[in-house]
Amino acid sequence: METGGSTNKPSGLSREHLEEHYKLYPAVHKAKIKEIEARLIRADTACVDPTYCTLRSLKKEYAYVLNSVRLHDLYFENIGEPGSRPSPELQSLIEQFFGSVQEWEKQFFALALCARGWVVLGFDLRDGKLRNYFTDDHTEGVWSVLPLLVLDVYEHAYCTAFQTRSDYVEKFLKRVLWEIVSRRLRAAREVFKSIQRCFRVSS
Ligand SMILES: [Fe+2]
Repeated sequence: METGGSTNKPSGLSREHLEEHYKLYPAVHKAKIKEIEARLIRADTACVDPTYCTLRSLKKEYAYVLNSVRLHDLYFENIGEPGSRPSPELQSLIEQFFGSVQEWEKQFFALALCARGWVVLGFDLRDGKLRNYFTDDHTEGVWSVLPLLVLDVYEHAYCTAFQTRSDYVEKFLKRVLWEIVSRRLRAAREVFKSIQRCFRVSS
């Protein structure tokens, strides 16, 4: 049985490990975006059907690769060195919506162990609230939510470098680049202020 000390394994969340991950998915999906966009220009819009048709398949997989690239970009960007802290603004909002940073982390960690794809701390532009979300697939999500902190929990993100998913999530949480997350929150709140009048909040 292979152990965590194997010399063939990259160290978890090291540059080498993250580069391997990048080559495996977002790089491939970036190429697929271009391919699907080219096919969409020529796609048959006359012979369409909700069970199967070319246009439907292309659009479905377009959302899949587009979200994969966007989520991966956010994920790689929010990983840094240990020791980073949320801004006072972010900390205060986390406390408001989760009780404390520890309670938020407890829920985020638990979601990371039961999700099949992604865990996201998101800011909802409809009501200005912070919530944790998870997705089993790149295409799931809530339309009005801007991702602040993104964690990839697909097996490809950790199996080559960690013994367990729990070890991976624990290390990720120590390496969150909170400056980036806090900056995303500031931008999201600015957008929230400017669009409040455009959307009627019903839930
Ligand atoms: Fe990934």
